[in-house]
Amino acid sequence: MTANELRQKYLEFFKSKGHSIIPSDSLIPENDPTVLFTTAGMHPLVPYLMGEKHPGGRRVANAQKCVRTGDIDEVGDNRHLTFFEMLGNWSFGDYFKREAIEWSWEFLTDKKWLGIDPKRLYVTVFKGNDDSPIDRFSIDIWQEQFAKAGIKAEICPYGAPINGNADFRIFPLPAKDNWWGPAGETGPCGPCTEMFYDVEPDRGPMRKTFDEEVDEFRVMEIWNDVFMEFNKTKEGKFEKLKQKNVDTGMGLERTIAVLSGKKDAFDSDVFYNIFNKIEQLSGKKYNDSENVTKAMRIIADHIKAATFIMGDDKGIAPSNTDQGYVVRRLIRRAIRYGKQIGITEKLWTKEVAKIVAHDFSGAYPELGRNIDFIINNLKEEEEKFGKTLERGLKEFEKVLSVDGVTGAEAFDLYQTYGFPIEMTKELAAENGVKVDEKGFEDELKKHQELSRTASAGKFKGGLADASEETKRLHTAAHLLLASLRKVLGEHVIQKGSNITAERLRFDFSHPEKMTDEQKQEVEKLVNEAIEKNLPVYCEEMSLEEAKRQNAMGVFESKYGERVKVYTIGEGENMFSKEICGGPHVEKTGALGKFKIKKEESSSAGVRRIKAVLE
Ligand code: ALA
Repeated sequence: MTANELRQKYLEFFKSKGHSIIPSDSLIPENDPTVLFTTAGMHPLVPYLMGEKHPGGRRVANAQKCVRTGDIDEVGDNRHLTFFEMLGNWSFGDYFKREAIEWSWEFLTDKKWLGIDPKRLYVTVFKGNDDSPIDRFSIDIWQEQFAKAGIKAEICPYGAPINGNADFRIFPLPAKDNWWGPAGETGPCGPCTEMFYDVEPDRGPMRKTFDEEVDEFRVMEIWNDVFMEFNKTKEGKFEKLKQKNVDTGMGLERTIAVLSGKKDAFDSDVFYNIFNKIEQLSGKKYNDSENVTKAMRIIADHIKAATFIMGDDKGIAPSNTDQGYVVRRLIRRAIRYGKQIGITEKLWTKEVAKIVAHDFSGAYPELGRNIDFIINNLKEEEEKFGKTLERGLKEFEKVLSVDGVTGAEAFDLYQTYGFPIEMTKELAAENGVKVDEKGFEDELKKHQELSRTASAGKFKGGLADASEETKRLHTAAHLLLASLRKVLGEHVIQKGSNITAERLRFDFSHPEKMTDEQKQEVEKLVNEAIEKNLPVYCEEMSLEEAKRQNAMGVFESKYGERVKVYTIGEGENMFSKEICGGPHVEKTGALGKFKIKKEESSSAGVRRIKAVLE
C-alpha cells in the first residue's frame, strides 16, 4: 500500500461514518505563543475540543502536517522524523469510546479497508490513577471486537511477562503511556487506548513483558484513540470538559512501513523517490554503510521538513529566530551530511525539495503554490552556508581540544561560519567532547543576535491557554486589523498573530514605519469600538458567502467548505468581519483600554505591533 492509498482510505472510511473531511491546517500555530509548530492533529482543533462549534460539524477527519522539533537530533535512526503526517478522526462532543473503538477495529481489520489479521493486533488501555479510574469501558468494547474474530482477549496484568499466552491482548498501562495531553501545560486531555501491530509473528509467541516487546520492536504502535473529557487547569487539576471528545492519531509514515513488515519508518514509498535523488546526487547507495544510511535519512527528513515549513502558506524563510531558525538548522544540517556522503554538486538541496513537492503536492497543494519561494530560499541558504561550511569545519578542527569547545569558540563558529549551536554540539559529540553551552548563551546575549525566544527553551511544546485574557486580546486583534485598514489602507492584511495572556503581537503587510499620528489614530479607533460595547457574534456560512460579505481571512481555504465568521458590531456600527475559529468575548466592553506598545519591522514589507489591554 502506498501513502496516498492509506491517506485516501482513511478519509474515505471516516467519510462513510459521517465525518466531514477537512484540509490540513497550517504548520504554524495561530495565536499560540508557546509552541513553534503544529505538533499533533488535535493542536489546531483545541478550541473545538473545548466547546467551540466547528463549521464542519461534530465529526471531522483529516491528514494534518506535523513537525516535532524535539526530535531533530534523533533523526538518523529508524524511526524519528521531524516532519510527519497524522491521520485523525475527531468527535467534538458527539460519539465517544464505543464508536471510536468499533471504527478503529473495522478500519484495521475489515477486508474492505486495511484487512489486518486480527491475530496481529494488541491494545493498551489506561490502568487508572488518582485522577481517573481504570478504563473498564474500553476494555469491554475491545473484548467484543476481538470476540468477533474468535479471539478470547484477556487482560495481561501490568508488568507481567506474556509467557507465550496468545490470549493476552489487552494491556492496562499507567498514565505515562496511556494518558494523552495536554499538549502544553493546560488544555484538553484524557485516557487513551493504543493499537499495536505484531511486526514479526513468525518469531513465535511473545514471552517478555509488553514494554520489553515494544522496546525490541516486536510490536509497534500504529494508532492512538484519545478520549478527551478533561481539561487540565493551571493549578494542575483535571476538570471535566463540557463535552466528551475523541481525538485520534495514526502516524502515516510509520503505519505504512509497519504494515508492510518494515521496522524502518523510512522504508516506504513516502521516501523512495527522495532517496533515489540523494543516491543520484551522492553516487552512493542507501545501504552502502550505516553512516551512509544515517546521512541519507537525515537529508531526506530535514529537506522534506524544511520544504513543508517553507511551503506553508505562512511562508517561513530561514532566519535566526523562531520557526525560521528551525528551517535554517534543518537545511544546514542536511548540507553538512550531504558533504559527508560526497555530494559535490552546488545548490543541490532544491533538487531534493522538487521531489518532495512533486510527491506531496497532490495531498498538500500549497507546496505547488509556493514552490518558487521554497527553491529561492534553499538556493540562498545554501549559497550562504556553502561559502563558510568548509572553512568552519577547519576552524572547528582547530579549536577542538580534549576540554571541549568553549562558549566563545562556539559563538565564533556561529557568528562567522553560520554554524547553528546544535551543529557544533553534534560535531563535538562525534569527537567525544562537549560544548560550553552556557558560555555560548552568554556570548549570544552579549551580542543580542537571537531573540530570547530562539534559545533552547522555546522548543518544548505547549498550547496557549484559552483564558479570558487571551480571548480579550484575540477580539482586540480583530479590532486592530479593522482599524489599521481604516487608517493605513486596504492593502493591510494580517500576516500572523501571537497572543499570550499578557500581550498581543500582530504582523501585517505595510511597506513603511507607522507615524505617531497613525498609531494614535489606530488606538483611538480601537478604543472607540471598545467603548461602544459592540456585540461580537459568530455565524457559519460557505466560503463563497463569507467572501461575498467581504469577511477578512488570510488562510481562506483552511476549513474547507464551511467557515465561521466573527462580526463585531451591527448595522451602521459594523466594525469588523473576519473568518476565524474563535474564541472571542461576547461584547467589546470587556476589553478595557487598548494600547500599542511598539511598532517595528518584522520582515520585508511586514510590520509588527505589540499591544496590550490595560
Ligand atoms: N493526540 C494524539 C497523539 O498525538 C492522538 O497521539
